[in-house]
Amino acid sequence: MKKILVTRRLLRSNEDRIKELYDANLNLNDELYSQDKLIELSQGCDGVLSALTDKLDEKTINRLPKSVKILSNFAVGFGNIDLEAAKKKNIIVTNTPEVLTDATAEIGVLLILGACRRASEGIQGARDADWKWSADYLIGKQLTGARLGILGMGRIGQKIAKIAKSLGMIVHYHNRSKLSADKENGSIYHDNLKSLMEVSDVLSVCCPASKETINLINKETLEYLPKGAVVTNVARGDIVDDEALIDALDRRKVYAVGLDVYKGEPNLNPGYLKHKSAFILPHLGSATKETRTAMANLAIDNLEEFFKSGSCKNKVN
Ligand code: GLV
Repeated sequence: MKKILVTRRLLRSNEDRIKELYDANLNLNDELYSQDKLIELSQGCDGVLSALTDKLDEKTINRLPKSVKILSNFAVGFGNIDLEAAKKKNIIVTNTPEVLTDATAEIGVLLILGACRRASEGIQGARDADWKWSADYLIGKQLTGARLGILGMGRIGQKIAKIAKSLGMIVHYHNRSKLSADKENGSIYHDNLKSLMEVSDVLSVCCPASKETINLINKETLEYLPKGAVVTNVARGDIVDDEALIDALDRRKVYAVGLDVYKGEPNLNPGYLKHKSAFILPHLGSATKETRTAMANLAIDNLEEFFKSGSCKNKVN
């Protein structure tokens, strides 16, 4: 029986399945393993079912025992893993695409709605019984007719585009390449970030974190936005330079932000907290029972496929 280290708790049904298939070392207390502990616990393991909270950088990967041949990441994103270092050590890395598209896009749309319609302030007012209806109370930005700029038109971006269109938004996008007409579905392509940002009343960051996208939303690029734009991020905190975005909020260049992901999670830059117009969520993108179950099942399927065939269709390195 193959031996697998599972670095975080999974939902019960997933833990039951992995226990049936493997000699599984589960993390029943859901402790956040340090890199040393992860290495120690992976001794003798054939694979690791990792999570986005595990920082598998070059140094850590180089210290993994030789027996580890696969890192099956329980996420669509894999910015937590140094793919090159894994490849050099002959370790394959897999992810869980598709199954989380719908749930993550739902949160992407919630960020847009929450930031545009001043949900944080509204919730606070209602909870504190500190409000009265009036014609100008918490006036927000209407989505109908507004231009949505999607940065990264992969599966999640496309699903957000579909919902946004049903809300009457006009969708623009920037991607490495223009999509086919059926995937594009009427959205307007921009071959560069500047041109996308110039038309984005609302920006939705949906691209993966990579060397090319780290801090792509920064002091310089934020200036391309129309004054009073809204910035949302459902992808990864690493794509945004927090200081620059907070400064843009301070200057009202940016009207509001909607964020689900942060650099250095679970800590977030305290500068966001002082802005009532920051609609912030704690990385809930894929957090539904259906989706988390499907993600873990796919991470297990990826292990199965690899051990049977030596490769995996969801290999990313
Ligand atoms: C969630 O953030 C994921 O990458 O799966």
